[in-house]
Amino acid sequence: MSRVVRRWRVAGFSTAVLAFAMVAAPAWTQTDPGLNMREIMLAVIAPMTNKLWAASDIQTDTQWLELEQAALTVIAAGTLISQGGPDGAYREQAQNADWQEHTQAMMTAARSAVRAIQNRDEEALFAAGNDELYPPCENCHATYLPK
Ligand code: HEC
Repeated sequence: MSRVVRRWRVAGFSTAVLAFAMVAAPAWTQTDPGLNMREIMLAVIAPMTNKLWAASDIQTDTQWLELEQAALTVIAAGTLISQGGPDGAYREQAQNADWQEHTQAMMTAARSAVRAIQNRDEEALFAAGNDELYPPCENCHATYLPK
């Protein structure tokens, strides 16, 4: 009987130690803060949106796939932007409603582009790019681009 009780105690104790260890010492440490806002813009947003804006006379499935990947990448970057960037440098700005609106507008536009691409609809893709995707860039930059 007492042996059983002691076993339970030991098991309970090691569970507590394990839980503590999991909180106190993660198995990994992040040594690189990730992309900053300028890097997201230059390495992800600008090249991907340029592909979407330059798209015309799309012929092959490979070309459509590349455009879909570009639009989806803009959405992925949108998640990072909405959090103020992985390095957190724009975390304060990201608390503002207008920052979130511009980011969401950009992501919604990219989602429209994805739909147009899946429908193989070049005109709809052109409209999504010009009417929806471009304005949020300008609107956010008007307020937040460092002078
Ligand atoms: C929610 C705000 C926001 C949105 C939306 C946004 N940007 Fe930006 N962008 C920024 C900020 C902030 C910077 C400046 C980053 C820094 O240097 O710290 C920037 C910088 C840039 C730069 C570098 C400019 C330079 O000369 O330093 C480019 C290029 C750029 N953005 C392209 C775009 C494009 C294209 C879009 C739309 C598809 C877009 N951005 C949408 C906030 C935004």
